[in-house]
Amino acid sequence: MNAPWETYLAEKLIDEEPLQARIKELGAQISADYRGKDLLLLCILKGGVLFLTDLMRHLSIPHEIDFLAVSSYGKEVRESTGVVRILKDLDDPIDGRHVLIVEDIVDTGHTLDYITRNLRSRQPASLKICTLLDKAERRQVDIPVDYVGFAIPDKFVFGYGLDLDEKFRHLPFIGVVKQGLVVE
Ligand code: IMP
Repeated sequence: MNAPWETYLAEKLIDEEPLQARIKELGAQISADYRGKDLLLLCILKGGVLFLTDLMRHLSIPHEIDFLAVSSYGKEVRESTGVVRILKDLDDPIDGRHVLIVEDIVDTGHTLDYITRNLRSRQPASLKICTLLDKAERRQVDIPVDYVGFAIPDKFVFGYGLDLDEKFRHLPFIGVVKQGLVVE
């Protein structure tokens, strides 16, 4: 019998092994860049959760974590509207902190544009972005991304934190969704 997600999978885009290898590299790079600094990893819920927890395990420097939950589009629409709402704010102030945003994917850039403008007003010592996936050709807002795991083509993907209508975030790989399919 097929696993439930197999119905929706057109192809595996990034398998578990290269995914983990790249996260290890990012962890080493971030550890070197932030050595001696008071690093706060700011995870954007929910998609960034798996990436955050794996990235943390590859950091060799002390760091703290916090979470921000936003909604950028409804369940039915796979297009960012630019209208972003904060659903859960950070637990603590970030003034004077070196903040690294940990995000699953940058698509149009609207979500991160809103988030970075909001966070900058809270006066962090620095604010940078680390995204696992970058769909650069879809960008509508110019967002400087400091760390990119993988540049990917304009395809709707799921797995490893990314959902397909809230499901399948647990998969250890990034898969491309079969065209025209929605989860019942
Ligand atoms: P943006 O505002 O268009 O950059 O959208 C960013 C958010 O859209 C991400 O944090 C994801 O939650 C979601 N998103 C964009 N592309 C995909 C995708 O291919 N699969 C799943 N979620 C996506």
